[in-house]
Amino acid sequence: MRFKDKVALVMGGNSGMGLATAKALAAEGAKVHLTGRNQQTIDEAVAAIPGSRGYRADIADIASSEAVVSAIEAEDGRIDVLYINAGVGGFAPLRAITPESWDQTHSINLKGCVFALQKAVRIISKGGAIVVTGSIGAHGALPGNGVYAAAKGGLYAAMKVFAAELVGEGIRLNMVSPGPIDTPLLHRNPGMSDADVATLKQRMIESIPMHRMGESDEVAKAVLFLASEDASFITAANLFVDGGLLELR
Ligand SMILES: NC(=O)c1ccc[n+]([C@@H]2O[C@H](COP(=O)([O-])OP(=O)(O)OC[C@H]3O[C@@H](n4cnc5c(N)ncnc54)[C@H](OP(=O)(O)O)[C@@H]3O)[C@@H](O)[C@H]2O)c1
Repeated sequence: MRFKDKVALVMGGNSGMGLATAKALAAEGAKVHLTGRNQQTIDEAVAAIPGSRGYRADIADIASSEAVVSAIEAEDGRIDVLYINAGVGGFAPLRAITPESWDQTHSINLKGCVFALQKAVRIISKGGAIVVTGSIGAHGALPGNGVYAAAKGGLYAAMKVFAAELVGEGIRLNMVSPGPIDTPLLHRNPGMSDADVATLKQRMIESIPMHRMGESDEVAKAVLFLASEDASFITAANLFVDGGLLELR
């Protein structure tokens, strides 16, 4: 019960590793607020997590992040644990990328996450903890991953600076950078059939030293560690949860 009486906000908490983290935080005593875009999966998440609240909010829409924070402020007065996890994938090589696809990814994965942090930090309690989802994609060189890597790499760089700005206020800010995790994300790639996804997964599994994809629960455990008092002397860290992919290959 590391999060007993804590107020948590999980942005992107209705699917994949965000949903697993929201459930894990609640199981350890937190009151959980969660956001997403899909009303049906938000409702399902709220039904599965006792005492939780759900908000339909597109993180690319900065006003909607402010509205979520104001609603939490009115109800609970503060946020103790903030997990900024919302993000989209998508592959396109250099010759195929467009200004529009760049802006779409970056408005969510970089700009949206940064301004969600700016809005939420207003009510983060002293001693509060922030975790942000990065990606090993920002630290490797996977062909076709340039736009995504730039967004997550920018997020990594920005978060280190924000961690430096917040440390004096007693607020810790860390990043968790997953490798290939088996979530609905891969199935959201437009233009990829189920067979394409299966082939991609097989190729990933062959490249991972542990010879399997990660599970959402395994990312959730890392997020809870970084958000808890167990990590009381840790800030500006970037924890890879990737089965050894980045360091051992
Ligand atoms: N799966 C991997 O292998 C992997 C590896 C490295 C990093 N990541 C990162 O991990 C994070 C979670 O991804 P996942 O794998 O768990 O995929 P997922 O199941 O697709 O979950 C993505 C989450 O982000 C939310 N989201 C996406 N765009 C949003 C927006 N504009 N506004 C608000 N919420 C938004 C989604 O809500 P809706 O469903 O309502 O859109 C969902 O809750 C992402 O940041 C992703 O880039 C994933």
